[in-house]
Amino acid sequence: MRIGIIGTGAMARALGGGWAAAGHEVRFGARRSEGAVELADAVGHGARGGSIDEAAGFGEAVLLAVPVDALDAVLRSTGLDGRVLIDCTNAFEPDAAAPDGTMNFVLGEDAVAERIAATVPTAHVVKAFNICAAEVWAAQERAFEGSPLSVPVCGDDPDAVRLVAGLAEDLKLRPFPAGGLHRARYLEAASVLTVGLWFAGHDSRAMLPPLAAAFAARD
Ligand SMILES: NC(=O)c1ccc[n+]([C@@H]2O[C@H](COP(=O)([O-])OP(=O)(O)OC[C@H]3O[C@@H](n4cnc5c(N)ncnc54)[C@H](OP(=O)(O)O)[C@@H]3O)[C@@H](O)[C@H]2O)c1
Repeated sequence: MRIGIIGTGAMARALGGGWAAAGHEVRFGARRSEGAVELADAVGHGARGGSIDEAAGFGEAVLLAVPVDALDAVLRSTGLDGRVLIDCTNAFEPDAAAPDGTMNFVLGEDAVAERIAATVPTAHVVKAFNICAAEVWAAQERAFEGSPLSVPVCGDDPDAVRLVAGLAEDLKLRPFPAGGLHRARYLEAASVLTVGLWFAGHDSRAMLPPLAAAFAARD
């Protein structure tokens, strides 16, 4: 599949690099095309680099791997119409109300994926990959304590959701459907909560029982 990656940072490298290694045609795009070319050369596997418009126009699927405050500019790119837009963004901001000596985050915006969909209404927006750090997506480890690393995926278009789920499987991850795009805000909230806990030294994984003990499973 042809995949455009907008951005050349940690997420672009982790996910774009993984998809290139899995055999997809990857085109990175950045404000500075040279940076995208450098990343493509580093990633290898035939990946190429160019402008943001080129990456947007190239991809059947396009990963938005930029800070939330860059989205206004990026979503004006030509070529995004009708694409599957993969939104991995998080609108984290430091929590000004956190007690002294602690560090935590709040969301600067609580429904980024929905805003993207409203800005490019012809695109099929799918929220995924926003919860774990880029280093996790780039690592070889794909199971922890016997549980496969899973990727909740939210989107309204079934074909687009299937496509992104397939891209997660190509990275040896286990996708699971997490509902329509109106639920993407819960993935955004889950991320700010869990990442904040991790930063504070707590194991977010420890706050959830396994499915069999969750008492919330359908009989
Ligand atoms: N890093 C993580 O572990 C992680 C995990 C989950 C989700 N996320 C989310 O994924 C997104 C990308 O994170 P990241 O860590 O990969 O970011 P990053 O390493 O800081 O890279 C950001 C990229 O965005 C580009 N960019 C910044 N402002 C731009 C603008 N106005 N127009 C066009 N391009 C612009 C930068 O390009 P220039 O070189 O031109 O500045 C750079 O390539 C963020 O929304 C973040 O919240 C990150």
